[in-house]
Amino acid sequence: MGLGTAGTGTGPVSVRRGVPAGAERRAAELYWDAFGRKLGPALNPPDKAVSFLADHLNADRAVCALLDGQLVGLAGYQLGGRAFTGGSASAVLRAYGHLRGLHRLLFLALFERRPDPGQLVMDGIAVAPGIRGRGVGSLLIEEVAAVAAEQDCRQIRLDVIDTNPRARALYERLGFTAVRTERTPYLRGLMGFGAVTTMRRPVEPKGTKETKGLSTP
Ligand SMILES: CC(C)(COP(=O)(O)OP(=O)(O)OC[C@H]1O[C@@H](n2cnc3c(N)ncnc32)[C@H](O)[C@@H]1OP(=O)(O)O)[C@@H](O)C(=O)NCCC(=O)NCCS
Repeated sequence: MGLGTAGTGTGPVSVRRGVPAGAERRAAELYWDAFGRKLGPALNPPDKAVSFLADHLNADRAVCALLDGQLVGLAGYQLGGRAFTGGSASAVLRAYGHLRGLHRLLFLALFERRPDPGQLVMDGIAVAPGIRGRGVGSLLIEEVAAVAAEQDCRQIRLDVIDTNPRARALYERLGFTAVRTERTPYLRGLMGFGAVTTMRRPVEPKGTKETKGLSTP
């Protein structure tokens, strides 16, 4: 389903729901490229991490951007108790061994996010480095917003780390506002960030899109 396009200079980018069959590994690579630093203590070494993510992702919990048939971006989300990044505790222990797997579960628990009723929680957005800054990330977020509206969610929630001010600027431009910042100085050495900010954006009910005010740069 081609729902949106962005001019990239190389061709049109189309946005669709779900990870296309066969693109799971590419999706996991994009995700790892964006979040490897944060997920490393839980899922390293990188090769194994990418395989684990690819094997356990829930393809129906992401919107994807395609350029010439190749996956170039994705935004995962959690809805109805199901997140983009799957993999139960027992899957982690199976893949990494019971002894080595245990402390990994503790790191993963740090990133556990439970949506409140009526909330869709974003589970990571990543665009291939070569085509960032051309509107693909914005298209993906608007597609997630469309999913949220269809599912009668009232709010979208996401987390952004303090070392990613450009992503935060993007979220603010798209109507997200910060509601809480949790300081995590104990994670700075291990994962590179010292605070996590939660942001929210109200969901426009279906059919009211034309009344939306345009954001100014
Ligand atoms: C954040 C990210 C998804 C944005 O995707 P994108 O396709 O570059 O987004 P857009 O082109 O729609 O918007 C770009 C805007 O986002 C911001 N931005 C964030 N990271 C950027 C990057 N690495 N390069 C360019 N712009 C970036 C800028 O404010 C930019 O605004 P500008 O064009 O006015 O300068 C993408 O940069 C990315 O994958 N980054 C690495 C992973 C990541 O940080 N994910 C978010 C974690 S909370």
